[in-house]
Amino acid sequence: MKAVTMLFRTCLILGCIMLFTQPLAAAEKSKKADKNPHTIATKEAKTIDELVEMLDEKKCGSCHPEIYKEWEKSWHAKSVTSPGALKGIHNFFAIGLPKEWKKPITKAEVLKCYDCHAPVINYASEELAVEIAEMVITAHKEKDKPSGEKAKKELSKLNVGCVSCHNLKAISVARGLRGDPKKGAIYGPTGANSGGAHETIETVDITRSVMCMQCHGKYTAPDGETIQCNTLSGSFQNAYQNNGGTETCQDCHMEKGGKNGKKSHLFPGGHDLDMVKKGLGLKVNFAQYRHLPGKIKGVKNDKAWIPSAIVTAFVENKAGHRIPDG
Ligand code: HEC
Ligand code: HEC
Ligand code: HEC
Ligand code: HEC
Ligand code: HEC
Repeated sequence: MKAVTMLFRTCLILGCIMLFTQPLAAAEKSKKADKNPHTIATKEAKTIDELVEMLDEKKCGSCHPEIYKEWEKSWHAKSVTSPGALKGIHNFFAIGLPKEWKKPITKAEVLKCYDCHAPVINYASEELAVEIAEMVITAHKEKDKPSGEKAKKELSKLNVGCVSCHNLKAISVARGLRGDPKKGAIYGPTGANSGGAHETIETVDITRSVMCMQCHGKYTAPDGETIQCNTLSGSFQNAYQNNGGTETCQDCHMEKGGKNGKKSHLFPGGHDLDMVKKGLGLKVNFAQYRHLPGKIKGVKNDKAWIPSAIVTAFVENKAGHRIPDG
């Protein structure tokens, strides 16, 4: 719980800094951003069910059942309703925006959290995005009442799903070079022919760490506000890659449970004991020596050499970044 509070506090504090330093510029820019959010052009959904209908993971699961089962267990599948995320994002909508910064809830503000926690909200209409924020408030505030449970059930349909990674965020690491992702297409590492199920486009981007870093790192919203939800990517670059680390996020996080050389979609991290163990190394140095006679008082025989030892234990971080995150 402490980590959650810390994370949220980081988000809140950084938000404050931004708004105090450039309130007018941000307001001007956010008007423009409202009209042109960083979405891919498509039909807008007016209800959560319409949104889900367009981007349903279950449909993908009918042909990719193993991957679906893995993904379903991952934290990406609960990035809206996990207790930590729900509470933290509630605080942003219910306290941060209205009370701290006196700003109305708009789609542009909603996306400041959900462009990462549920990128499909890019497809939501302005009204639906605001409605989703209100549902978050209800789900948290009324969590023990049927109204809260109902809201949470609706929200649980939103997540970091298949389309988030295989379309929306697949090539946006190099948007200037590659443009917007093509509507309806599926981006993958090989461009494998799906036999007509979907257009598949090969992209190397999805196999690179930067793809993950879009969400697992510092974020700049279209109006220039910076959100710092997690700090992993900074230490991945500065402490790991700069010291010669060569593995990608995918190498370490898509390995477990992968069958036939396929990458696993379980994405184990700090909630997975095996993964945590992998991240920790223990190195013990043992130095033996003897004290000269007469140097240590109170020993039985102060004419003899006294055997002594120095034990130094190093706890080593073997992950590709600082741990824990936050
Ligand atoms: C750049 C993408 C990004 C943005 C923008 C973002 N988050 Fe996050 N958030 C993440 C990621 C990734 C994690 C998981 C971090 C980890 O496990 O190391 C996370 C984790 C969290 C957690 C902890 C969840 C848990 O299960 O303990 C909270 C709370 C949270 N975010 C709140 C917010 C709020 C509030 C906003 C909007 C002001 C926001 N986030 C915006 C990417 C983002
Ligand atoms: C958090 C991002 C993310 C999510 C969510 C995600 N994927 Fe992936 N997926 C990847 C990445 C990254 C790769 C490529 C890994 C590589 O080859 O380095 C991949 C690879 C694949 C592949 C090719 C794998 C192979 O080895 O044949 C398929 C098929 C696939 N994903 C389907 C899905 C389906 C279906 C879902 C939803 C149930 C899904 N993915 C959700 C990131 C994601
Ligand atoms: C009617 C069956 C069917 C459905 C539905 C389906 N796929 Fe596929 N898909 C395939 C087949 C067949 C392949 C090629 C063999 C393979 O890689 O599994 C494929 C390949 C892929 C690949 C690998 C591409 C690459 O470059 O290697 C990804 C990623 C993928 N699908 C994601 C999805 C996502 C996301 C959805 C849901 C929006 C989905 N698929 C729905 C049949 C389907
Ligand atoms: C669209 C944004 C997005 C992308 C892209 C993304 N993630 Fe995540 N990821 C999240 C969010 C949000 C969470 C946190 C969910 C929560 O705690 O509620 C998360 C959780 C995780 C976790 C679980 C952390 C834990 O505490 O157990 C791991 C591991 C992870 N992501 C690795 C990756 C890797 C590797 C990639 C690239 C292949 C990737 N993610 C791509 C948004 C994203
Ligand atoms: C050399 C392997 C390695 C690389 C490279 C790596 N990770 Fe990790 N990561 C780990 C291990 C091991 C853990 C578990 C350690 C722990 O949380 O105690 C972990 C933990 C995490 C967590 C959970 C953090 C927490 O506080 O619970 C997230 C999220 C994550 N990694 C994402 C990423 C992303 C994104 C990248 C690429 C930018 C990446 N990792 C690169 C090995 C790696």
